[in-house]
Amino acid sequence: MFGRTSLVSGSVVAALALTTFIPQAAAFWRLTCLNKLLVERNDPIVNPGAVSGHLHTVMGGNGFNFTMDYEKARASTCSSCTIKQDLSNYWIPNVFYQAKNGSFFPVEQIGGATIYYLQRRDPPDEKLKAFPPGFRMIAGDPLLRHNTSVSGRTDAFTYICLDYSGGSKGMKERYTEFPNRNCPSGLRVQIFFPSCWNGKDLDSPDHKSHMSYPINVNFGKCPSTHPVKFVSMFYEVIFNTNAFKDQWYDNKQPFVLSNGDPTGYSLHGDFFNGWDIGALQRAIDTCNSASGAAEECSVFKFFDKNQSQDCMVPPRIEEQTTGWLEKLPGCNPIQPGPARAVKHTNCGSQETIGAPMKYYTDVSAKNWEYVGCVMDSLTSRTFPEREDFNDLTVEKCIDYCASKGFNWAGMEYARECYCGKSAPPQDRMGYARCTTPCAGNDKQFCGFAQRLSTYKAKGPSSNTFGTP
Ligand SMILES: *[C@@H]1O[C@H](CO)[C@@H](O)[C@H](O)[C@H]1NC(C)=O
Ligand SMILES: *[C@@H]1O[C@H](CO)[C@@H](O)[C@H](O)[C@H]1NC(C)=O
Ligand SMILES: *[C@@H]1O[C@H](CO)[C@@H](O)[C@H](O)[C@H]1NC(C)=O
Ligand SMILES: *[C@@H]1O[C@H](CO)[C@@H](O)[C@H](O)[C@H]1NC(C)=O
Repeated sequence: MFGRTSLVSGSVVAALALTTFIPQAAAFWRLTCLNKLLVERNDPIVNPGAVSGHLHTVMGGNGFNFTMDYEKARASTCSSCTIKQDLSNYWIPNVFYQAKNGSFFPVEQIGGATIYYLQRRDPPDEKLKAFPPGFRMIAGDPLLRHNTSVSGRTDAFTYICLDYSGGSKGMKERYTEFPNRNCPSGLRVQIFFPSCWNGKDLDSPDHKSHMSYPINVNFGKCPSTHPVKFVSMFYEVIFNTNAFKDQWYDNKQPFVLSNGDPTGYSLHGDFFNGWDIGALQRAIDTCNSASGAAEECSVFKFFDKNQSQDCMVPPRIEEQTTGWLEKLPGCNPIQPGPARAVKHTNCGSQETIGAPMKYYTDVSAKNWEYVGCVMDSLTSRTFPEREDFNDLTVEKCIDYCASKGFNWAGMEYARECYCGKSAPPQDRMGYARCTTPCAGNDKQFCGFAQRLSTYKAKGPSSNTFGTP
């Protein structure tokens, strides 16, 4: 069994190459999530309506919320993933570096995620079903701290140590725990979801038992208790652990999952269905390309990539999740096991859902107002005048622009201040990811790479935008 199940090793693409003796097994498509939507202690499956136990990185539709249903997912106006008919959410814990003094620093996530939808039929004419409306599930166990092959765990939850320097060799380094070596091209976290459904429950008390793995975990027949085969789903998320390559100590790997796990065995993932069900079923039935390119599937339409990049949900929990942290958000002391971890509560962490974070500053005292997050381009600037300040704040840029007779001001990439006399073009409006702290005040926001936090002077003559 292990010889065959190790087919999931390396990349799914490599595994598929090995399984071409089952032609149908080769059909799949990749859903590309260009960015994360939100990093927050939010888990509408496990802790609906409340602050969840640990931090997650969430991808998908911006209908994501503490309380979710299928209609809310479908009401998303954008998704950080690119297929337009899919407004689902995909989330996993995120990864922190722990320094010798005990402090934590978040490991940067490279992009968003790649979600594989694999048409693994057995027998070859098996009819695979789309996830029904309201369907949700989790895979994995946040309290696990030891190596076990129970339920195929070691085949479903894996880490790939990426190393592109020597060709594809490094791609083959697969681990069931955090690797005890540096990964020069990043650490890829991988989760294979169960694909066999009991045919009736959209969820279950443990959010798992309505689902089961097929006999070989990542392929094979379903057990009689869970006879309905869905399309198989597999997540890949890459973390830039290489940024800490010179900061290892005490002869052991320094990374932990946000739920206080230094082993990696507690890796888990959540899925909340937000698909247009008809489109998903048509794609399962008709998109039999072996290349995995979603663009080859005529069923799919795509979001504008820039809009997907910017799709985000503002956090609503007032707690620090970036920079150096003395403890992991929530009550997540490091528990190395091998015994199961125990849940901790009442450690004084923030447990209140507040108002959505605002990425702008109230400048009404200056008689200016925030307009929005506006796209800029290196080759065609949105505003003509530029001045950089190492201590840039929103007020500083507005004062500078006003002193030069401009009535539009935009802050970009922490230090850059731009000024203009007219509104940005309509097609550059409506972006969201103006989330970079200002160089001169880390409580304020000064755009992003090629994004301008944009303000304008109030007054009759400057009211050039927003009037129908
Ligand atoms: C989340 O739900 C709250 C209250 O139910 C609502 O006010 C808010 O707009 C929702 N957020 C999103 C991103 O849909
Ligand atoms: C812990 O160590 C890191 C890295 O050496 C440092 O940046 C951080 O400020 C330290 N934190 C505390 C609380 O001393
Ligand atoms: C964990 O178990 C799997 C499967 O039995 C094995 O291949 C792997 O080497 C084990 N990992 C460790 C660190 O023992
Ligand atoms: C997306 O952004 C890039 C870089 O800012 C820009 O060159 C391109 O025109 C944008 N595409 C669309 C469709 O807006």
